[in-house]
Amino acid sequence: MTMLRVDNVSKQFGGLKALQDVSFSVDEGTIFGLMGANGAGKTTLFGVIAGQIRPNGGTITFDGRPLAGQRPDQICRMGLGRTFQIVRPFANLSVLENVIVSAMYGAVRAHRLEAATQAGRRALDEVGLGHLADQAAGSLTLSNQKRLEIARALATGAKLLLLDEVMAGLTATEVAQMSETLFRLRQERKLTILIIEHVMGALMNLSDRILVLDHGVPIAMGPPEQVVADENVIRVYFG
Ligand SMILES: Nc1ncnc2c1ncn2[C@@H]1O[C@H](COP(=O)(O)OP(=O)(O)O)[C@@H](O)[C@H]1O
Ligand SMILES: [Mg+2]
Repeated sequence: MTMLRVDNVSKQFGGLKALQDVSFSVDEGTIFGLMGANGAGKTTLFGVIAGQIRPNGGTITFDGRPLAGQRPDQICRMGLGRTFQIVRPFANLSVLENVIVSAMYGAVRAHRLEAATQAGRRALDEVGLGHLADQAAGSLTLSNQKRLEIARALATGAKLLLLDEVMAGLTATEVAQMSETLFRLRQERKLTILIIEHVMGALMNLSDRILVLDHGVPIAMGPPEQVVADENVIRVYFG
């Protein structure tokens, strides 16, 4: 089953073409990687999918439903969760309080504190932050702040996760641990994951399929081994 379809999406900021005619689809339960240099349009694409940026053209279909005209909060409640490249937890709230807020906001619609707390604790356990539940979110290491971002998206009840550079700035060991966590989440929650990552080895290892953007233009798409061997990708990355 197709979880997400992006058809001919374009976005311009003034005269800058940030996305040009981008199309792809992501099957349920798979990990789809987005690659491209700084400024290639990756984060803009996430913004368009999550309803935060209105495209100039094209359509998005999530879980069989067209997203045109839906607000970000409505899209979130439909089961689409995203993390942000710049982490922004409520720094003064505890780790647990951060995920409780997300659970109350998202698809779970856990309006009762008890249910929200339960969804929050589950999300923390799933990303390995259960033991830090009572710490202030602002006191976490970068690696754990990235994990908290993922837990916040999970606590909304997301079935599709958009992860924007959750491995940036992590050590090699932390990258390996994060990859393990993502594989386990996909397995246990039957999640579909769309992931932007500069750590190319990790992206290759995680992704079932990869799309490469160059200045907003799709230049290659396919399984990782096919994409690394693509002549356009070699030219842009290594040429
Ligand atoms: N809100 C905005 N207004 C104007 N230009 C923007 C805006 N957001 C992004 N851009 C530009 O669009 C291009 C793509 O940016 P972005 O999607 O953040 O790239 P990436 O995430 O691949 O590094 C860049 O040239 C960036 O400067
Ligand atoms: Mg970006």
